[in-house]
Amino acid sequence: MAAWFLQILWIHVGCVIASGSLFFTRGCMVLAGWRAANHTALRWISVLIDMLLLAAAIALTTIIHQYPFVQAWLTVKVVLLVAYIVLGTFALKRGRTRAVRATCFVAAVVVFLFIVTVARTQNPFGLFAQL
Ligand code: HEM
Repeated sequence: MAAWFLQILWIHVGCVIASGSLFFTRGCMVLAGWRAANHTALRWISVLIDMLLLAAAIALTTIIHQYPFVQAWLTVKVVLLVAYIVLGTFALKRGRTRAVRATCFVAAVVVFLFIVTVARTQNPFGLFAQL
């Protein structure tokens, strides 16, 4: 499977771009009051992308023999992925007021971008690793 590392990495990164772009678009739609943001088709597409993202992530960890709860940068990615998902559900649906939804939306985007810096640096402190 190691021979497939680059292809799987690109699936992972492709899903990261698709997941982030779709979440950002849906978040903006929610804040603009568009009910289509939570259309069943969009929710299923999101779930499918996120499942593929996670499947590729698991394949990558297996190939490089580095695992969450062993390597700190992968632990941080998993924990922040959960935070991103929870914040995302409040931003798109569960937040009761517009202020709560907007705050959760901004927090989810910040968490998502920070995960990207953790991935790029392979350091649990991400972009703060240089400080
Ligand atoms: C929203 C969540 C995630 C984002 C935004 C994300 C982002 C990225 C990015 C941008 C890369 C490419 C890094 C580079 O080539 O420089 C990457 C690679 C990788 N990611 Fe993720 N990822 C996420 C979730 C996860 C999770 C949950 C895991 C582990 C269970 C994981 C494991 C990996 C591994 C093993 C690599 C390959 C590292 C290498 O090149 O050796 N990712 N990720």
